[in-house]
Amino acid sequence: MKTIIDKNKFGPWAIVTGASSGIGKGFAQQLAADGLNLVLVARRVSLLEELGSELAKEFKIQYRTIEADLSEESAIKKISEATDDLEVGILISNAGTGNVGKFFSVELSEHSYILQLNAISHLSLIHYFGKKMASRERGAFF
Ligand SMILES: NC(=O)c1ccc[n+]([C@@H]2O[C@H](COP(=O)([O-])OP(=O)(O)OC[C@H]3O[C@@H](n4cnc5c(N)ncnc54)[C@H](OP(=O)(O)O)[C@@H]3O)[C@@H](O)[C@H]2O)c1
Repeated sequence: MKTIIDKNKFGPWAIVTGASSGIGKGFAQQLAADGLNLVLVARRVSLLEELGSELAKEFKIQYRTIEADLSEESAIKKISEATDDLEVGILISNAGTGNVGKFFSVELSEHSYILQLNAISHLSLIHYFGKKMASRERGAFF
């Protein structure tokens, strides 16, 4: 895999939410190939463990997995506590769903779930990690 990101520019660790499948998994693979250590977040922690150990072996990186449901407000506290000792230089806030449906055919509770997952969780993660990056004057979030 071709190197794309200079790890020295951002910091040694990257966090990827929704790394258990799809686009998030692809981001994790690319970041590992660039030599960044990874914090992998999703609900299916066994898939994160599988991916992390595979990438650690292939690219000699370190990894940490966090089982978190980002539709729950408490997820940000869990993630912040589990990464407090790390310099996270890149945040890929990717976890989410596109499966919304027609507005009135979807229950209000489902809309609330999607709002928390697809909007509030990104805001919370960017606010938490972005603030630290701003104080270090390096870092990036997507
Ligand atoms: N694919 C596209 O064409 C496309 C287009 C526009 C936007 N997007 C957005 O890009 C992101 C990734 O898409 P994708 O196609 O790669 O989807 P995907 O294969 O379904 O992956 C979604 C990822 O998000 C995680 N996730 C879902 N709900 C979660 C929750 N409540 N808490 C924590 N993690 C959760 C899933 O992990 P677990 O199930 O293990 O928790 C999974 O790792 C999504 O936000 C999607 O809306 C995708």
